[in-house]
Amino acid sequence: MAVFLNRFRPHFVPYSLLVMHKLNTLSCSLALAALLAVPAAFGEVKDSTPKAGADTWEAPAGLAISPDGAELYVACAKTGHVLVLDADGLETKRSIAVSGGASGLALSADGKTLYVTCAAPLSHLAVVDAAHGKVIRTIPAGHTAQAPVLSPDGATVYVCNRFSDDISVINVKSGKETGRIPVDREPVAAAPTPDGKYLLVANHLHHGRADTNVVAAKVSVIDVASRKVTKELILPNGSGMLREIQVSPDGRYAGVVHVLARYQLPTTQLERGWMNTSALSLIDLSDVSLMSTILLDNVDSGAANPWAVAWSADSKTIYITHAGTHELSVIDFTGVLQKLAKAKANPQAAASAGYRSMPDITGDLSFLAGLRERVKLAGKGPRASVTRDHRVYVADYFSGSVERVDAQPGLPVKTQVRHIEPNQTMSILRRGESLFNDATICFQGWQSCASCHSDDARSDGLNWDLLNDGIGNPKNSKSLLLSHRTPPAMSMGVRDTAETAVRSGIRSILFTVQPEEIPVAMDEWLKSMKPIPSPYLVNGKMSSAAKRGETIFNSAETHCASCHTPGLYTDMKHHDVGTGAEEKLYDTPTLVEIWRTSPYLHDGSAVTIRDVLTSHNSKDRHGKTSHLTPAQLDDLAAYLLSL
Ligand code: HEC
Ligand code: HEC
Repeated sequence: MAVFLNRFRPHFVPYSLLVMHKLNTLSCSLALAALLAVPAAFGEVKDSTPKAGADTWEAPAGLAISPDGAELYVACAKTGHVLVLDADGLETKRSIAVSGGASGLALSADGKTLYVTCAAPLSHLAVVDAAHGKVIRTIPAGHTAQAPVLSPDGATVYVCNRFSDDISVINVKSGKETGRIPVDREPVAAAPTPDGKYLLVANHLHHGRADTNVVAAKVSVIDVASRKVTKELILPNGSGMLREIQVSPDGRYAGVVHVLARYQLPTTQLERGWMNTSALSLIDLSDVSLMSTILLDNVDSGAANPWAVAWSADSKTIYITHAGTHELSVIDFTGVLQKLAKAKANPQAAASAGYRSMPDITGDLSFLAGLRERVKLAGKGPRASVTRDHRVYVADYFSGSVERVDAQPGLPVKTQVRHIEPNQTMSILRRGESLFNDATICFQGWQSCASCHSDDARSDGLNWDLLNDGIGNPKNSKSLLLSHRTPPAMSMGVRDTAETAVRSGIRSILFTVQPEEIPVAMDEWLKSMKPIPSPYLVNGKMSSAAKRGETIFNSAETHCASCHTPGLYTDMKHHDVGTGAEEKLYDTPTLVEIWRTSPYLHDGSAVTIRDVLTSHNSKDRHGKTSHLTPAQLDDLAAYLLSL
């Protein structure tokens, strides 16, 4: 029987909160036991790499397997090397040093050459002779490069430049970047079709206002010959936090995993995917269109933060890691196709299964019943995966481990785990980051803090109706960078400090009760986060337009600096700057890193800085801007986007 989530009417019952608390006690003590099993070393915090909030540990972020299946390559994001493991026993055989955090890797079809993205504001691609572990050449790429992928003919490497919002096209033979293809927003994964005609790109976040009827991220379809995005596949309303996209080996389908947020409902409860669900969107490559989106959660247990997608060689099984609940889904894809075809071809049968229309499938929390096995993993934070036939390798980001899962159809699933981390004690920072990404401290595993704030505690760009300031007044998610240094918290300042907000988040968003050491670790990690240098900087410096903008910002006429005082760029006070429907006071937000937090203002109604300063400031109540020429407005925006 189908079990739907989108046929429930929001009922504004305050007591649902109380019921939740009771139900939680059990799941929370279980989660706690699991957490306490991890040894925690409070105290020593090693010096970090330049990455924001970094605490050095292996942080395995990418996997590749040699064509003969003998060697497994593991990209280590925080230590800047690639480990080579024997794929059977998972023993570390050797280590290849690259300069900078290894965010992802790809292996040539002959197994001889490794391509490793080293993420930084000025990233590069390291080309490595796999047998000898030598870096042959380094090729510059964009801001925060990741997810390298080879074209089917092996002649091109594509690299996702997350914060340059584009794809680097790198010619393997010449070792040169031959072009950049702009995509929608924050590309985090790409997959070519086997005929080499298209490159499908997963954009992490939506681009646009947050107060419209449909707010969803897209898959950009690049026509490789013309090097242009020729199609954009808009995922269902509320889709975001895209992670990985993969094309089936038979070239017929692509799968992309993401969060499917029910952001339009007031956040009164979590049951049946009330707030965030986890989804797999399937793309039919015969006409490159969105085929269906199916939910990965169960009725009473969420499968939060889906991350990696992989297919078996015969395209019959699809594997998905759940970074929030530390699981692997093994999905009978043939069964999924049959079920979808039945619903499409036979509306009557579909109706008897409860589907009134195809989109109803997207609301069915029992769609995968009988078609999927949820495999509990041993490590924490399974992110990357790679397959060989029906064997899946998974890299656990937080526990620094690699797991091998043998999932032969018809046989019981077998798993083996190996720690690649020499020092397995977690510093408080790593623990804080891991807890922030952990959905097992949430009621029924529906979400983690990262479901709305992403893994690095920024923003999903969605408007949520949190109940801390009443009901019916949604607010755009906030980045947590500098939150602890800029009290009060929340756009109306309803929480006196970020510490209070963290604790109320655990209580009223994860619907759970946790020991104080958990928010303490989260606080420590959040406080350690550093701003990422803006992609608008030119060689790390402000452009001349930005410098001119700085003068305008600091002028007595615009008086921007009187509220956004340089340094933290906030006076930490409330003001009415004419942005609310009625007279409303909002906390002055910091402007640091606003290059990555569009849409702006408490209601996410302004897409660009220009919008904030013009259409949303018609009466000059938000600083004086009406006298500025278009060129001056551009300069001012260039300055703000450089912070
Ligand atoms: C359902 C989405 C969602 C989840 C999950 C979520 N948050 Fe938030 N968070 C928000 C929104 C929306 C805001 C901004 C609200 C406002 O401005 O009134 C916010 C604001 C905050 C702030 C205040 C930031 C500032 O500078 O004012 C903190 C701190 C915070 N969240 C921490 C957390 C923590 C810790 C967790 C996990 C326990 C968490 N959040 C989970 C949506 C979420
Ligand atoms: C009187 C105090 C004050 C002055 C002066 C002021 N601001 Fe603001 N600013 C605010 C407040 C309060 C908000 C939050 C408004 C909201 O969320 O609706 C804000 C929001 C913003 C935002 C959106 C930030 C985000 O993350 O959503 C930008 C950009 C901004 N201001 C730039 C400027 C510029 C540029 C000037 C000068 C032209 C300026 N501000 C002058 C108080 C001020």
